[in-house]
Amino acid sequence: MITFPISTNTLVRDIVNELPKTSDVFKKFRIDFCCGGNIPLSEAIAANGINEEDIMAELRLVFEKNSSAETDLEVWTKSDSNTIIDHVINHYHRTSEEELSLLSPYVTKVSRVHGDSHPELLKVYELFYEFKRELIEHMAKEETVVFPIIKQLEDGTIENREEAINMIIELEKEHDHAGEILRQIRAITSDYTLPADACGTYRLVYKRLEDLEGLTFMHVHLENNILFPRYF
Ligand SMILES: [Fe+2]
Ligand SMILES: [Fe+2]
Repeated sequence: MITFPISTNTLVRDIVNELPKTSDVFKKFRIDFCCGGNIPLSEAIAANGINEEDIMAELRLVFEKNSSAETDLEVWTKSDSNTIIDHVINHYHRTSEEELSLLSPYVTKVSRVHGDSHPELLKVYELFYEFKRELIEHMAKEETVVFPIIKQLEDGTIENREEAINMIIELEKEHDHAGEILRQIRAITSDYTLPADACGTYRLVYKRLEDLEGLTFMHVHLENNILFPRYF
């Protein structure tokens, strides 16, 4: 277990650079982590009349959530499908939904503020919202339609097996398309390379988009390579 690396002496800017999801906490406490982020956390706490314990507890929570990220995927090959489905829903669907909604205002803001001088951000904006729309729809379809069908395949109560398989194939096509959008974001941002004048929001958007890509790849891997092949 890695110990919590943030102290009140740490610069706000450095905290967000190291752990971009802490930007949500700073936003909530109305601390400017972007242009005014070059001050120690203690100073920002004092300037905004914030309770130190409150904010440290929330920062710690972000850190803990982040460091409990899945590292051992092998364990899932030995799990039954119901367990995998529950894990996918609780660990990936809910997390992706939350992150897509939290990240949206930053993507919108950075493309509005810097889109003129960095037109690739306008494209990132378009691609991000396309990705968001499609992934949310896709996850809802899995949860309401296809996962229940997989449970029927699993316990042998399925009526139309061929139709069930076709729906799984459809999901795989949607995964391909999501992956294609992520590849386009990667290409347009030259692998998330920041320009020299990138502000804090710019940095956190690139870092969080990259993390979202990682989360999506793990999620798709569990479905495409572990769960779905059980039924072909
Ligand atoms: Fe899924
Ligand atoms: Fe999926």
